[in-house]
Amino acid sequence: MPKKFIVGNWKMHGSIESVDALLSGLSLMGADAGSVAVCPPFVFIPAAISALKGTGVSVGSQNVSAYDQGAYTGEISAGMLSQLGCKYAIIGHSERREQWLESDQQLAAKFVSAQAKGLTPILCLGESIEQREAGGALAFVERQLRSVVDIVGIESLSLAVIAYEPVWAIGTGKTASPDQAQEMHAHIRSVLAELSDEVAEKVQILYGGSVNAANAAELFSRQDIDGALVGGASLKVDDFASIIAAAKAV
Ligand code: PGA
Repeated sequence: MPKKFIVGNWKMHGSIESVDALLSGLSLMGADAGSVAVCPPFVFIPAAISALKGTGVSVGSQNVSAYDQGAYTGEISAGMLSQLGCKYAIIGHSERREQWLESDQQLAAKFVSAQAKGLTPILCLGESIEQREAGGALAFVERQLRSVVDIVGIESLSLAVIAYEPVWAIGTGKTASPDQAQEMHAHIRSVLAELSDEVAEKVQILYGGSVNAANAAELFSRQDIDGALVGGASLKVDDFASIIAAAKAV
């Protein structure tokens, strides 16, 4: 099993001053190569890449266009991000699915576009509270996964990361229990294993949704939880560092 991977999703937070302070803290933290990434808002990506050079912390984007170039006002292409030195692109975060109505087809196109330019997609999946309470969480997430895999092909998942983020746990302080998260991660892996054992074994499946310094270690102790996609706690260097330390200690 690959080592744990911790990704910070800053969402639309930060100012020039606060990002500067956050990056200074992160640059002093030190990380094993490939074990930590942060995804700042687009405009702070160049500053992050420059401040984190040589620290082992990689940089990703929170979104990416499905298009290469052209008359697409407001879009940012995978080629542009890659040229800056980005390594990852979060694709299909529930906030984008819900508020920008991004469809599975659009997300699959973004996934293909990101990989074509050398970015590793971090594909987010997750059910709503209604779906969980109705007993349909596993089936819903499986459908989200299959609708992208059917388009991009199973082999391309070997160069991607999956993040399971139950919508009801994001920013709410209500983390999925380690058992709930483990059950879903194992299910995601078994769906992939139907198509390719090799890919299922290789792909990292991160958990996201109110991960913090206090709950990280227990989540990471579960077999199929390969790391975390961290929102709020990634904006505080000490909390983020504790989560990284918990991942390293497993
Ligand atoms: P949270 O966000 O850690 O603040 O719940 C996670 C995410 O949305 O990626």
